[in-house]
Amino acid sequence: MSRYRHTGQARARRARTGTGRPLSELISDPARRDLVCRVGSIGALLALLGRGAASAIPRSSRLAAAAVSGSAAASAAGSSLLGFAGVPVSTDDTLVVPQGYRWSVLLAWGDPVGIARPDGHMPEFAPDASNGVEDQELQAGMHHDGMHYFPIDLVDAVGRVRASAGSSRHGLLAINHEYFDFRYLIPEGANWSPLQRVRKAQAAVGVSIVEVEVLRGQWQVLRPSRYARRIHANTPVLFSGPAAGHPSMRTERHPDGRAGLGTVGNCAHGATPWGTYLSCEEGCYAFFRPRPRPTNDERRMGYGRGEYARWGAADPRFGPQREPNETNHFDWVVEIDPFDPDSPPVKRTALGRMHHECATCAVCADGRVAVYLTDDDRNEYLYKFVTARAWQPRDRAANRDLLDQGTLYVARFDADGSGRWLELAPGRNGLTADRGFATQADVCLRTRGAADIAGATPLDRPEWVAVDPTRPGRLMASLTNNPSRRHDPKTPGANAVNPRAPNPHGHLLRWTEAGGDHAATRFEWQVFVLAGDPADPDPIRHGSHRGDAFSSPDGLTIDARGVVWVQTDATGSVDAKVYGNNAMLALDPNTREARRFLTGPRGCEISGAVLTPDARTMFVNVMHPGERTRSNWPDGAPGARPRSATVAIRKEDGGVIGT
Ligand code: FEO
Ligand code: CA
Repeated sequence: MSRYRHTGQARARRARTGTGRPLSELISDPARRDLVCRVGSIGALLALLGRGAASAIPRSSRLAAAAVSGSAAASAAGSSLLGFAGVPVSTDDTLVVPQGYRWSVLLAWGDPVGIARPDGHMPEFAPDASNGVEDQELQAGMHHDGMHYFPIDLVDAVGRVRASAGSSRHGLLAINHEYFDFRYLIPEGANWSPLQRVRKAQAAVGVSIVEVEVLRGQWQVLRPSRYARRIHANTPVLFSGPAAGHPSMRTERHPDGRAGLGTVGNCAHGATPWGTYLSCEEGCYAFFRPRPRPTNDERRMGYGRGEYARWGAADPRFGPQREPNETNHFDWVVEIDPFDPDSPPVKRTALGRMHHECATCAVCADGRVAVYLTDDDRNEYLYKFVTARAWQPRDRAANRDLLDQGTLYVARFDADGSGRWLELAPGRNGLTADRGFATQADVCLRTRGAADIAGATPLDRPEWVAVDPTRPGRLMASLTNNPSRRHDPKTPGANAVNPRAPNPHGHLLRWTEAGGDHAATRFEWQVFVLAGDPADPDPIRHGSHRGDAFSSPDGLTIDARGVVWVQTDATGSVDAKVYGNNAMLALDPNTREARRFLTGPRGCEISGAVLTPDARTMFVNVMHPGERTRSNWPDGAPGARPRSATVAIRKEDGGVIGT
């Protein structure tokens, strides 16, 4: 999501101290532990990490780091989980997968999703971008991001959710379209009115639902399909949960504060056990013209930072004179039922208001559902929502409003490797009416402020959370990077959970809920991997894993074998020779070897990887090729517009992906 300016709004906060487990255990990497021993003390290691550039590192420490890197490489054992030959770094304008694999484009920006007009017509993509607003509303949007595959037989005719895996050859894909690019969206020299341009952009964001099936040996989009759907910036939506109907949600157009228009900034996602899709609104300020004097609450959510979309000039809803409460209709998690195209998208306010990156679901021991939530900004937080009731597999309709009642928590990471989930509710953890938190609606509308008071731990841009299916209660989160940690006078420098300052390449954090139960309020955590180049001895740039270099982990999924699939969003500032175009890597959770599985075309970000239940197809999104650089992918013809696309990857022998 490279449209954003991550100016950060860090709060001064000291690293909490603890005398329990040593840092060497928190950084779960033999090379790092070795480094602790060589440097001599935890304090010395933190000092080393905090000092940053290689020039500032004592010569003896640099030698130590170099020795660590060398010893790690020498002891690297071959991974038994990674059964493919890695692909090299690439700066080419193409997509590369390992030998023995095939990819095909399934749905690119502008392809019809399968909604037919009354006369049966489904508008095809016009290579000169001359499709108007009405066409775009029936076509895939731009900038494909989070995505989920729902087997077509997940729900039976009487509304039961099947217990077994479901079809791996026929299903629905729900795909987020995070933002758009006017350069490619509108024909050059076209005499379109400002409102026409804006309306097409508004139709090119949001969510697509498509029906997909393997036909004649290849994944295809079924057209027409009764499930096909586009949800965009002008689609009617509902609000539910504590903030629905609150005075801050009331507008002239929607005076009851329980309905609104549209979803934007649809970043990553989640999927509920009952087969609905959770689309996460991230950084919606970028779609609004900033007010000259934003309120503190607006500023906290970024609404003073400046717009990206430039919609406000033509659409007053996003302009400087907008309805004061219109911005409160955004930055939520939206629940969408992909199996019912007539159901309204519902913004579930109980999950809080933030720059929502993901909403990863896991079932607790007693059948309640935990939703792990991330807030993608520098020094923002990790959250968890636990439903009040258990979900009902045999009565799908009974789960309809399950996400409206429950407990919202934010994570505190203590330096001894333990952690706590701090409840965000009036009367708990310092949240009082005096401080503006008289009701749960106050907490949900100003979640970041509530988490500040509760004592949450700032993190280096929390992106995706993945559940580890091989170990009860174990999860992983990608913290993509934070290059300004060292430079911002408000930031505290390195600490146990953000151990590099600056942090140009990010890291992966792993934690296990107490008792293996997602409803627990305590957990144990460790840094799983510091991203970077394993061959670079500078601790700021060193990757603590083995194998291939990677930077800025973003998309994250863990397959049934425990292999961690990391998709990168390193934009602009990394060494192209080392990292090349954005990529997807597979990490062995035991040996911590990273092997590059896929490289994307120029200017893209890789996102949305999801496997079918049999793990023999992986769908991946190639997002915004051609951003900040030239690309003609996937069409390839000189001058062709670059198009974000969903790609289906299969093994030529039909085997499990990654084996
Ligand atoms: Fe939408 Fe944090 O990426
Ligand atoms: Ca992302």
